[in-house]
Amino acid sequence: MTSTISNRRFAKWAMTMCAAGAALIAGDAFAQNVQFAPGKAFFDTKCAVCHQAGGRGQDGLAPPLTELPGRYAANGEGRKQLGLTVLNGMFGQIAIKDKTYNFKMPSFRIESDEDLASVLNYLVFDANSKHAGAKPFTAAEVKALRVTQMDGAQVREHREATLKSLGL
Ligand code: HEC
Repeated sequence: MTSTISNRRFAKWAMTMCAAGAALIAGDAFAQNVQFAPGKAFFDTKCAVCHQAGGRGQDGLAPPLTELPGRYAANGEGRKQLGLTVLNGMFGQIAIKDKTYNFKMPSFRIESDEDLASVLNYLVFDANSKHAGAKPFTAAEVKALRVTQMDGAQVREHREATLKSLGL
């Protein structure tokens, strides 16, 4: 009898823990406040494998995306940099704060203008707490950037120039 009760208690505890774990994995607590839900879904499917959930980054692999995208988005050159990065990828060493990254960001040129605009909006407005008066990306803005084809190393050089012009 005693063992039945404790088994039941254990089962209840286990179910509660599983539910909590599932909510964490699905990012439920976070998802409630997401403004760009389709962009988040796209990010979770295509980008989080390297940049991790919410764009927090992964040492030695992919940089965090929780600060610079918001700053880029408030400035014309910065917006261009964000668009060029997703359209062309990026390659070569970059530094963020005291950490360096030197791996290849793939090109997402085959994705639609709508999807790329929405994933950038998720990054800027949901994953970054600061985005000083930036307006949302539109599909037309992404489309206009498609004509600028660069290789990953050129995108990295463009990034250096952009950071300089933003005083970062
Ligand atoms: C295969 C791993 C990988 C995937 C998948 C990936 N990235 Fe990246 N991303 C990187 C790496 C690595 C860099 C840094 C490249 C470098 O060192 O030159 C980067 C850089 C970036 C940057 C530039 C950050 C800065 O500070 O300028 C942005 C923005 C970005 N990624 C967005 C995305 C988005 C959006 C997606 C999904 C559509 C994505 N990435 C998918 C690996 C990845």
